[in-house]
Amino acid sequence: MPSSHRDKFIAQLAAAVSAGTFAKLTLGKYRGADPTVHNLHVRPVTLKSGPHLALVWRHATQDITKNLPPDEAIALLSGLIGADFLHAHLFAGNTVTQFESDPGGRSRLKTTAATAVAANTGHDREKQHLIPADSRWLRDLGVTNPHGQVREGMADKYRQIQKFAEVFQHLTAEAGLTAGQPLRIADMGSGKGYLTFALAGLLGGRAVIRGIESRPALVETCNRIARENEFTHLSFTAGQIGALPAPGTTDELDVLIALHACDTATDDALAYGLKAGARLLIVSPCCQKELRPQLTAPPVLAPALRHGIFQERQAEFVTDALRALLLEWAGYRTKVFEFISTEHTAKNLMISAIEAHAPGDPGRRDRLREFAAFYGIRTQRLATLLQLPLTV
Ligand SMILES: C[S@@+](CC[C@H](N)C(=O)[O-])C[C@H]1O[C@@H](n2cnc3c(N)ncnc32)[C@H](O)[C@@H]1O
Repeated sequence: MPSSHRDKFIAQLAAAVSAGTFAKLTLGKYRGADPTVHNLHVRPVTLKSGPHLALVWRHATQDITKNLPPDEAIALLSGLIGADFLHAHLFAGNTVTQFESDPGGRSRLKTTAATAVAANTGHDREKQHLIPADSRWLRDLGVTNPHGQVREGMADKYRQIQKFAEVFQHLTAEAGLTAGQPLRIADMGSGKGYLTFALAGLLGGRAVIRGIESRPALVETCNRIARENEFTHLSFTAGQIGALPAPGTTDELDVLIALHACDTATDDALAYGLKAGARLLIVSPCCQKELRPQLTAPPVLAPALRHGIFQERQAEFVTDALRALLLEWAGYRTKVFEFISTEHTAKNLMISAIEAHAPGDPGRRDRLREFAAFYGIRTQRLATLLQLPLTV
């Protein structure tokens, strides 16, 4: 028989999972060892191998997802509830059960009708979002409808916008680009402008933001929407990233972003950001094709690399790892992480770089050359732009 509030809560969770009424579980008030963890969300998923629970750990700059069989998931959650996470909300059937404990071991358990609680949590969740759902620009870009509701098919984009705003806020704080300080930002390959507008909305008049995009029609639309929203600090320019004139003193930047700019456009953007003196660089690379013809598999990997998908993943890994090593050589501290859970988009790898130390360290240079040589890489766009030969 369950005795404590915690045991009763876990028993309710197990019963809801086995009865198929389990909708979701959120764990908050984190008190564990990892300071980057915010909360943990759990929901049911059906995989080929049968029903599972998807556990999504939300960190400051990334989501980490684990799909576990129900029994394993419940065993893991039992150890977390009331320990690492002091609060837990279970949504099952038409009820919500709240378990709350404090570090002293006192706890309470309350079950409420789902409709009342869902309304509250929906409201709370909205308040936590950095970008208000009723922002006019979200509607103008087609993400929300006139009632501020996310349009069908735009949920992933909406979530990406919110997550990017959150990641941006953390990274600027980490880079010492403190709140209130004016920021000069360039967004290379700004596309339809979703993330560029997110920054404009987030930062208001504090930032001067320029989007660069090769498709003139998108530039025209984004400039019109910026005007209509009276974002006088936001503008878009048509152009190829790699063909931009070298930045002069009036082009200095604090932050360079390039999200999903294709293939070597990411390298062109990074090189521009470095030359423009950006303290923070944020890129989310896409379609890493450049190195594929050069990649030679070490003999032991050859049988595995018969498979095209592994070759593709290896090219992504080698390209992005080399970019991070080059940025470190250029004087930056890097982080490579998934900025949004893979269930929302496959294009989720992010590299952030914060100016941290003197550039040109020979030890770093030698190590990155060894890495390149291991994979048979002789040239890579960012290395070329930084005038660092990969072979000697
Ligand atoms: C996949 S979209 C991403 C748009 C936006 N950054 C986002 O993440 O929502 C990539 C955009 O980069 C633009 N692009 C690709 N290569 C470029 C280049 N060399 N110069 C300028 N724009 C480029 C494309 O036209 C496209 O609109």
